[in-house]
Amino acid sequence: MTVRSKLMVGNWKMHGGLADNASLLSEVLNGLEGVNCRAAVCVPAPYLAQVQTLLAGSAVSLGAQDVSAHEAGAYTGEVSATMLRDFSVRYCIVGHSERRQYHGESNDLVATKAQRALAAGITPIVCVGESLAEREAGHTESVVKRQLAAVIHTIGHCVSEIVVAYEPVWAIGTGWTATPEQAQSVHAVLRAQLKAATAHSDRVSILYGGSMNAANAADLLAQPDVDGGLIGSAALKSFEFLTMLKAASC
Ligand code: PGA
Repeated sequence: MTVRSKLMVGNWKMHGGLADNASLLSEVLNGLEGVNCRAAVCVPAPYLAQVQTLLAGSAVSLGAQDVSAHEAGAYTGEVSATMLRDFSVRYCIVGHSERRQYHGESNDLVATKAQRALAAGITPIVCVGESLAEREAGHTESVVKRQLAAVIHTIGHCVSEIVVAYEPVWAIGTGWTATPEQAQSVHAVLRAQLKAATAHSDRVSILYGGSMNAANAADLLAQPDVDGGLIGSAALKSFEFLTMLKAASC
């Protein structure tokens, strides 16, 4: 069995500002002693240049929160994968539930975005997850499998190059974290689906996201198929983020 070093990704969402970003990252970068997991922050697009400079030469990678499904052209407001690449973006979240919910992103659109990111040399972090109603109706497995299947269908064996994030919608920003057992059981389903799609599925990290914080990270990360975290609000506090990075380090 391949041991993947854990990957911890902060998703800043629509938070931050020039001064706040600089102080948060200086605290994070100064506290990395003892951290040996992989780490990244996905920042709002206007701050990519600033954060690229702040992270230069550090062990923390730069990420974006979305990418256009189009290569280039008359798409006002969109940001292409090659533009992200110009700022040394290493990861790009695609299909976050907030994009699916508020911007009507379909499974197929999310798959195209993942494809665009990969074509530009950026690792897409593909988010999947069920709503509370879907969980209560017993549809968790079928929902997440359908979401991931669209990506597998579009990018084929390149699926070994993606990161998957299981983010139950009911756990995002609510303080209701999935239990380690709930997370593990969905991660195992996703792991099996990846295994059936590519001979190199062991390269794929499957992150958990949804109210992950300094208090619950270690238990979630101890699950065999939880390879890291996608962290929202707790990534905006340097001490909390660093505590989680340490929990993910061996
Ligand atoms: P949260 O967000 O940690 O604030 O729940 C996670 C996410 O939406 O990626």
